[in-house]
Amino acid sequence: MDKPYPPLYYSEYLELDRLLDSQHRKSEEYGDPAHDEMLFIIVHQAYELWFKQVLFEIDSVIALLSEDPVQERHIGVCVSRLQRVIEIQKILIDQLRVLETMTPLDFLDFRDYLFPASGFQSIQFRLVEIRLGLQSDTRLRYNHAAYHSRVSVEHRDALIAAEQETSLFAALEHWLERTPFLESDSFRFWERYRAAVHDMLEHDRSVIEGNPTLSDEEKVQQIHEHARTAEHFDAMFDPAKHAALQQEGQRRLSHRATLAALFISLYRDQPILTMPHRLLASLVDIDELFTTWRYRHALMVHRMIGTKIGTGGSSGYQYLKSTAESHRIFRDLTNLSTFLIPRRVLPTLPEDVRRRLGFVHTTDAP
Ligand code: HEM
Repeated sequence: MDKPYPPLYYSEYLELDRLLDSQHRKSEEYGDPAHDEMLFIIVHQAYELWFKQVLFEIDSVIALLSEDPVQERHIGVCVSRLQRVIEIQKILIDQLRVLETMTPLDFLDFRDYLFPASGFQSIQFRLVEIRLGLQSDTRLRYNHAAYHSRVSVEHRDALIAAEQETSLFAALEHWLERTPFLESDSFRFWERYRAAVHDMLEHDRSVIEGNPTLSDEEKVQQIHEHARTAEHFDAMFDPAKHAALQQEGQRRLSHRATLAALFISLYRDQPILTMPHRLLASLVDIDELFTTWRYRHALMVHRMIGTKIGTGGSSGYQYLKSTAESHRIFRDLTNLSTFLIPRRVLPTLPEDVRRRLGFVHTTDAP
C-alpha cells in the first residue's frame, strides 16, 4: 500500500539551501576577509533561531493561561513548555563562551563594517521581552530615544502592535486573580497567617537589636530596612497600601493576584497546588536566567570593546549592565520569599477550603 505522504529529503525538509546560504561576511565583500566574522554571524543566527523557539513556547503558554477557566492539565503543559524555555536560556548563556573565543583584536578586524547595526535591533529579542511583559514605559532609555527608534518603520509597527497584546505577565495576573480560594467564611487563614508573620518580624527585629556585632549606626540602618519590610507586609492586607506601592513602582502584580501567588507559594505541598507552584517557580527561573544573560552579555561587551560606545550608539557596557537589574519582569514573584513562614507555623487548611482549591478537572484528556 502506498504511503499517504510523499518521501521527504533531509535538506529539503530543513530548507538547508536557504539556511546555509545566509552567512555572508561583510569583510569579504569589502575585500578584507576577517576569519572570525563567520563565527560572529553564525552565533547571532543561532540566537535568532532559539529566540523563535522561545517565542513559540511563550505564545502557547499565554494562550493556555488565557483560557477561562484554565484546564488543570494545561498547567502541567505550561510548566513543561516553560521548562523548555529555561533549558534554551541556559544554552543562550553558554553560547557567549563560544563567541568569546574571538579576541577583542579579532573583532576589530571587522567591527567597523557593522555600524550602525546592533543586537539592539533584534526584533525577536524585543518580542521576547514584550511577550514576557516588559512595559515600554519602564524601559531604560539611551540618548533619550524610544527603544524602537533604531529599527525600520515596519519593525517598529510590529513592536508597537505586540505591546497591545496580552503578555505572559498579564495572562498570569488574570489567572491568579481567578483562583477561587482566597475568601471563605469559615477560613480565617489570612488572620492567622498575619499573626505568624508578625511574630516572625518581631523576632527579626529583636535579633537586630540584640546583635553585638552591629554598630549603633548599622542597627539604625537595619531597623529602617526592617520597617520597610513590615510596610510591604502590611500592604499584603491593605489594597490601598498595595496601590500606593504600585504607584511608586515597588509592586506591579495586582493585590488579588499577589495574595493568590503567596497562597500558592505557602501551600505548594498541597497536591493541587504543586503544578501552580512549579509554574510560578518557572517564571522566577526565566526572569533570573534572562537577567543572567543580560549581565553576562554586558561582561562580554566590556571585554570586547572596553568602555567604547556600541555600534548601535549606546554607552555600551554601562547601559547593558543597568538593564540587567531594571528590566526584570517577575520581580513580585521573587519578592514573595520575604513573606514565607516556616511550615510548622503555617495555618492548617480547613476541609471546605481544600475542596474549593479544585481547578477544573476534565475527563476528556487523551
Ligand atoms: C562581539 C560580540 C558583541 C558585542 C561587542 C555586542 C555589543 C553590544 C552593545 C554595545 C549593545 C548596546 C547597544 C549598542 O549600542 O549597540 C548590545 C546590545 C544588544 N546585543 Fe550585543 N554584542 C555582541 C554580541 C551579541 C550577541 C551574540 C547577541 C545575541 C543575539 C547580542 C544581542 C544583543 C541584544 C539583544 C542587545 C539589546 C540589549 C538591550 O537593549 O537590552 N549581542 N550589544
